[in-house]
Amino acid sequence: MARVMNHKSRLLSEEALTKYRIELLVKGTVVIGPQILFTQDDLAKIDQLQAEIPEEEVRVGDAGDSHNVFVKRVRVDPPGRAPSDASGAAPGQIMELLERKDRSFALRKILGATSDYMIRRCQMHRMPPGSFVGIHLDAASDPDFEYAVIVQLARDFEGGGFVVYPNGYEYQVFRPPFGAVLITTCKLRHEVKPVLSGERRSLVYFCSKRSGANRRIIESSTAGV
Ligand SMILES: [Fe+2]
Repeated sequence: MARVMNHKSRLLSEEALTKYRIELLVKGTVVIGPQILFTQDDLAKIDQLQAEIPEEEVRVGDAGDSHNVFVKRVRVDPPGRAPSDASGAAPGQIMELLERKDRSFALRKILGATSDYMIRRCQMHRMPPGSFVGIHLDAASDPDFEYAVIVQLARDFEGGGFVVYPNGYEYQVFRPPFGAVLITTCKLRHEVKPVLSGERRSLVYFCSKRSGANRRIIESSTAGV
């Protein structure tokens, strides 16, 4: 299969993409190595753009779970409304970079779809020492989230392992290196263990085949928690 590819990126052959697809399908989580979905240039550009976005501290997740993480909103997906880019120029430019054709093509192959996925939500996470993200289900934020894509933007930190719980008694720990991309199904519970030293930074986005309003219903029992 001959495809003309950007010489700077090493977007994979159909065969290699299929291998990742199978791993994602079987295990629910896969790590794509550095320099494959994002080049060094892409990562530098994301870093430069995200610097312009204001940051907020988040301590409670959408399902009332406990967090301690600094978040910059790139695209938001509020319940009852369609996704929209956060205000300012940088969010739109980051989305443009994420949604570039070659990257969407490769991602679609890994996610195993014939039609396009849309990015419903996107944000930057900064986790200094002591930060963590408690056990949660991404689908609690939007029932139509299918896959979370997490781009590692930091080099030097300890702790901060990404732990996935495929069922009640097993767990898998992931520590993807700088520039690697972790993809996980939004149907599995997971958490980010406390960061011990350095700073963990990542760009996280959630893919869905469904556009339109977020169908999440806020239950009165969890409101305000
Ligand atoms: Fe998550």
